[in-house]
Amino acid sequence: MARRTSTFAYPTIPAVDWQPGLPVHGAPTWVIVVGSDGLPAAAKEAGQRLGVDLDRLLEVQQEAGFSASAGSTVAYPLLSGEVNEVLLVGAGAGTAKELRHAGAAIARSGRGKDELTTLVAEGIDDQALQAFAEGVVLGSFSYTLKTVDKPKPVAGRVTLTDGSTAERQAVLDRGIVIGRTGWLAREFAITPSNEKDPAWLAARATELAASTGLEVKVWDEKQLAADGFGGILAVGQGSTRPPRLIRLDYVPAGATDKTPYVVLVGKGITYDTGGLSLKPREGMVSMKRDMTGGGSVIATMSALRELGAKVRVTGLICSAENMPSGSAYRPDDVIRHYGGRTTEVKNTDAEGRLVMADGLAYAVQELKPDVVVDISTLTGAIKVSLGAMLYGGLFATDDALADNLAEAGRVSGEELWRMPLAAEQYQDLISTPIADSVNSSKGPGSITAALFLKAFTGNTPWAHLDLSSIAESPADRHEYSAGATGAGARLLTTWLTTDAPTAGIG
Ligand code: BES
Ligand code: MN
Ligand code: ZN
Repeated sequence: MARRTSTFAYPTIPAVDWQPGLPVHGAPTWVIVVGSDGLPAAAKEAGQRLGVDLDRLLEVQQEAGFSASAGSTVAYPLLSGEVNEVLLVGAGAGTAKELRHAGAAIARSGRGKDELTTLVAEGIDDQALQAFAEGVVLGSFSYTLKTVDKPKPVAGRVTLTDGSTAERQAVLDRGIVIGRTGWLAREFAITPSNEKDPAWLAARATELAASTGLEVKVWDEKQLAADGFGGILAVGQGSTRPPRLIRLDYVPAGATDKTPYVVLVGKGITYDTGGLSLKPREGMVSMKRDMTGGGSVIATMSALRELGAKVRVTGLICSAENMPSGSAYRPDDVIRHYGGRTTEVKNTDAEGRLVMADGLAYAVQELKPDVVVDISTLTGAIKVSLGAMLYGGLFATDDALADNLAEAGRVSGEELWRMPLAAEQYQDLISTPIADSVNSSKGPGSITAALFLKAFTGNTPWAHLDLSSIAESPADRHEYSAGATGAGARLLTTWLTTDAPTAGIG
């Protein structure tokens, strides 16, 4: 069997630099970021350098339909001088979300160009400026194994100025790192599963651990069996490519016993056929991205040291390939999870909760964190509840944890909508006389899946992110490219690098 060597490549992104003061010449392309309140303050002076009346240019373009809504663009060629193009980019009311859209639009327009000089509003706030850098990184994303008609390479450099003498590079740098977590998670998720299996994911995590200051430990199938990870093993036993549990540890410099400790658990199903409860063709396509949660955990972990996170964090990625075969697990099987709890399998396509249960049980029993957060593409039902590309589903046993995560969702642009755990109403649906619980039932699919997992979290404050609703973009739109979004990495990175991610919890 011919096995392709890895096509994985770490992100190539434009340099995003802050430039104090207006450049005398600048790049051949000047980008002017236009808000609904008009041009940046320094546009007059910039226009003089360019030999263009930018007020008049904007007027003419607005008459022709340019609206300055976030991410809209119009290019205006200059026929004399060193600068040969002015690109107007809309930033709407100038919120962080809109600047993220504007940054992505610039990245798309700037493909193949060496450098862009970009004029932004004077005194643009930190969140908006950071979001702009995130947008530039994410808008530069592309993935293809095409051998012809490849997309143009990303722009070499995007230089920003507001015309003032302020120094803002640190804000851009944070945006670049957060954008890069999104890129990485997206690239993991978009990689096809003939290349990507649990061992591949473990290899990527191991490489990143070495380059970003993390400890790593990987359980292979023998070690999983020795330690009793029955859920991960059951789901993985039908595949010729064995399962893995991946553990990444981040300890901040100067950590003490009092340093808060967070564990992230990610679903790493590198392909979900449904197993013996086989998915129909339409439902199976795109299941290469069923490791989005696990990929987001790896990407998040990789940014913590660079961004100076103040909490201890362990990432656990529960990885298996869910395949039908003569060795596959069956409906009616009873599996024993890490720590001993049992589950009767009724549907081998409800595999995510089986691997996640092992990860959660290990987290609360062995690691004893202050907070545990799991992240997955767990149910199709959450897409029915929340629609596509609007919100990810958030369940939590602690209100402060829910609030902190929801706020990180707003800041990062990966927004969450809180869902009810509704144990009183639906607990019965996951019970069976044969075992401690059953893995599939009728009723509200996202809620019953969440309740199934809750039984493995003990008394540890817990949040559960079901992100199937934001894991795939139908088109190239703003910071998203068509296909896998790699949802969750920017959200988790944003949350864990706030001053006090665990404030108020418990
Ligand atoms: N990976 C799927 C969930 C999913 C579906 C994610 C569509 C993204 C898009 C999960 O493993 C699954 O198959 N869930 C089943 C659960 C059911 C069998 C109880 C589902 O949602 O249909
Ligand atoms: Mn499934
Ligand atoms: Zn799945």
